[in-house]
Amino acid sequence: LAAYSLPALIGYGLGSIPFGLLLTRFAGLGDIRTIGSGNIGATNVLRTGHKGLAALTLLLDGLKGTLAVVLGSLVAGAQSTEAGLIAGLAAFLGHIFPVWLGFKGGKGVATYIGVVAALAWPGALVFVGLWLAVAVALRYSSLAALIASAATPVALVALGWTNEGLAALVMSIFLFGKHSANISRLLKGEEPRIGAKS
Ligand code: G3P
Repeated sequence: LAAYSLPALIGYGLGSIPFGLLLTRFAGLGDIRTIGSGNIGATNVLRTGHKGLAALTLLLDGLKGTLAVVLGSLVAGAQSTEAGLIAGLAAFLGHIFPVWLGFKGGKGVATYIGVVAALAWPGALVFVGLWLAVAVALRYSSLAALIASAATPVALVALGWTNEGLAALVMSIFLFGKHSANISRLLKGEEPRIGAKS
């Protein structure tokens, strides 16, 4: 267990950096948690109208997950895929439950992609491909993430990446939980589409 505490700590520390909140604050846009859905992620940063900041939020929230996996396995010895997996999961949990924000963090989409990209890259292709397909067709960021995260663990296990698929499943369960408000808005037909003004 001790062998995994440093990777977990590094992962959580990286994951808990709320880039969306920090970038919008530094840009003088106030507290992103008072805008749109109140989420700290790229989709909500886009609602400020600043596309560059939204793209940067997506990139950095993703890269912190990738970096967590890489550093986590490095500190535990180069071949430790388990340590990378633990660090990646910790980064994802750090993003959605950051101690700095009273454990009220983001919904995990970008960090999920970044973690899976480092653990099992075909999973990231599946996720991003499905996300883009649904987002382009229906223009719901949340629905795109829900469909992509439901499919990714199944695809990974089917491709033989069993442990990585199980880690993805754990992340998908949390991702669904964090999207409960989006799910009820989708069911009521009240979810704003990407690019909508509200
Ligand atoms: O990235 C989270 C996305 O799936 C939904 O975000 O702000 O519309 O709740 P938001």
